Amino acid sequence: MDSFADSKRSIAGLKSLGFTGAVITPHLYRGVFDNQAAQLRVAFDEFLAALRNDGIEFPLFLAGEYFADDHFLKLIEQGDLLFTPVADERWVLLEFPYLQESPFATACLAALVNRGYRPIIAHVERYRFVARAPEVWLEQFERYGAVLQGDIGSLAGQHGEDVKRFAVSLLDKNKIAIWGTDIHKSKQIERHIVPGLAQLGAAGRLSSILNPMLTGISS
Ligand SMILES: [Fe+2]
Repeated sequence: MDSFADSKRSIAGLKSLGFTGAVITPHLYRGVFDNQAAQLRVAFDEFLAALRNDGIEFPLFLAGEYFADDHFLKLIEQGDLLFTPVADERWVLLEFPYLQESPFATACLAALVNRGYRPIIAHVERYRFVARAPEVWLEQFERYGAVLQGDIGSLAGQHGEDVKRFAVSLLDKNKIAIWGTDIHKSKQIERHIVPGLAQLGAAGRLSSILNPMLTGISS
């Protein structure tokens, strides 16, 4: 199946679960996913036009998921980041390496704050260094006013039992403000999002933080 057809399946799957729109966050990770904001904006506009052409209505907003490294520090300085507008703030999603502490983590957080952005920590439950010392890291993130994001599939074991345990403990403590799907392919919806959502709903933690922004977008 080509990627456009699979994107349409993803949208249909999300709609069937009650999602009323989505912020999509392609990777910007130098050397791994060499995307640039300007190119992504063009591709996104083409994508929206193709959806419209097929009569598909679903509000979408383009943001990004930035890998915290020296290149990202330069992008922050240039000040043209893909962000999610929440109220009058600009929220930027950033991710770290999974296994060990990033040498750029605090520098990137500080730079974002200095430029007037609010950091969102991507899939916080998946970092081993955070799971090893959650008090230290959650306090550190809080110091920079960062919002924590979690992957719904983590609650259903998509990333293993250790990650699941940590995700559930963060859910229980109500530490995660935004739960995202992290879907890269439509088949992940049935397998990971449906069971993860069941846990979130049961815990009363389905977040609608992004709804006001998405309802302002015409599809
Ligand atoms: Fe990620």
